Amino acid sequence: MKKRKINSISVKLGTLLFAIFFILIISIVSILYLFFVNFYTQDTIDELIQRSQAYAEVLSNHYDEALINHAGLIESTTSKMILVVNNNGDILAASERITQLSPDYLNEVITHGYEGHGPTIASDWKNEDFFVTESYIKQNDETVGKVLMFSPTDLVRQVVAFLQKIFIIIGFITLVISALLIYVTSNKVVQPLLKIIRVTKLLSEGNHNWKLNTKGSDEIAILSHSINQMSKNIQNYEQQRTQLFVDISHELRTPLTYFKGYVEVLLNEEVMSEEDKIKYLTLLNKQSGRLQRLVQDLFELSTMEHKGFTMQQTRISIETVMINALDLIGPSIEQKGIQLNVQLSPIPVYVIGDEYRLQQVIINLLENAKKYSPASGKINVLTYKKDSNCIIEIVDYGIGIPEKDLQRIWERLYRVDKSRSRETGGSGLGLTISKKIIELHGGQITVNSEEGKGSTFKIILPILGGKKL
Ligand SMILES: Nc1ncnc2c1ncn2[C@@H]1O[C@H](COP(=O)(O)OP(=O)(O)OP(=O)(O)O)[C@@H](O)[C@H]1O
Ligand SMILES: [Mg+2]
Repeated sequence: MKKRKINSISVKLGTLLFAIFFILIISIVSILYLFFVNFYTQDTIDELIQRSQAYAEVLSNHYDEALINHAGLIESTTSKMILVVNNNGDILAASERITQLSPDYLNEVITHGYEGHGPTIASDWKNEDFFVTESYIKQNDETVGKVLMFSPTDLVRQVVAFLQKIFIIIGFITLVISALLIYVTSNKVVQPLLKIIRVTKLLSEGNHNWKLNTKGSDEIAILSHSINQMSKNIQNYEQQRTQLFVDISHELRTPLTYFKGYVEVLLNEEVMSEEDKIKYLTLLNKQSGRLQRLVQDLFELSTMEHKGFTMQQTRISIETVMINALDLIGPSIEQKGIQLNVQLSPIPVYVIGDEYRLQQVIINLLENAKKYSPASGKINVLTYKKDSNCIIEIVDYGIGIPEKDLQRIWERLYRVDKSRSRETGGSGLGLTISKKIIELHGGQITVNSEEGKGSTFKIILPILGGKKL
């Protein structure tokens, strides 16, 4: 657990932010430091050199006492100081403030390297109080003295100290901000994430008695919302699956009960007329046929619902599909005494798909129309082209479908009137399979129905006439 905390996103974020801030501050302060120290120091020294040279030049031309004293007086109004000495190191003129400096220091500066040294005597602002430069006073090419110029180094030190303070303060502020960020991200990001991890673990164990908080519009809220949705879907899926098992076992139980009953009669009846025997065997045959169809339909549906399932892709004529289906089921419709009116599109219409399966859809719909129409009923079959679609309508004037069941008839094993359907042998899979097939063809199937008046099933299939296969 401890290791997990150290690896936590909030600590990583906080450390990263601190590192970025820190590197930024170090860079800015270092640039400021280098720029200021170098620039200011060099500028001060250059100015000192210029001034001392200017004085030395004037004094070289007019080396008299009045002028020497004057030089000392001029510099008394600036932060800089001047010192004029002769070859023996005797002070000839000096700014008033120079007397505040210790004689030892002055002596050291004055005696510090005469000829052969550059104009800068002191530039070490860290250890010395003044920048010092010197220029020589010459008379007939002979050095007679020198002008020393002083400028205090404390300003540089003050600025450097100020920069150091800023550096420490900003460093401290960054540290506090980073700690705050760690705290905030831990509460706002890591805690919800930990909760999500706990909840998804529960979800994987099949426990759905929870809900994640989806307040806000950030990624965590979106993720929580998706997980809630996923949980709901899984729950629905599990419910559907359980319901499907219940339904399937129920569907299987009924014919099997009949089956067992008939077999028992056949076994137990010692004396049975040939006629009765045939009657029971016919019933057995009917039930086994029903069972076989149910299993076949379930298998077909599960195959089509499989993600990788693809329809056969051939160019097929709707007219052919309709004629073949009508050839197969038409006679039994007419046999029931139902009038069958067929009106096929005069223009040939082609779609891309699986001829056998489309034929199966038409047969399913016609079988329903027959099943749910009275003996003297009427069924209209119509195909026509509309825009870039082929429309197939199957209209009956039978019992119709109550409004409350209209949406549910497409569900697996759903039947409006369970007992009546059982008599007619339906298992409630025909429409589910038909809808799946039409959708796999990129089409739609809809129903319009009124109880007691009849139903209209409408198939819309996209025409791909221009596409030659
Ligand atoms: N033309 C129709 N008129 C009235 N009700 C219909 C019609 N077509 C379908 N239904 C209702 O919709 C239900 C589902 O139809 P579906 O074709 O899926 O199942 P089935 O006909 O009962 O069984 P199966 O087709 O699997 O043999 C039917 O049980 C019936 O109640
Ligand atoms: Mg059916």
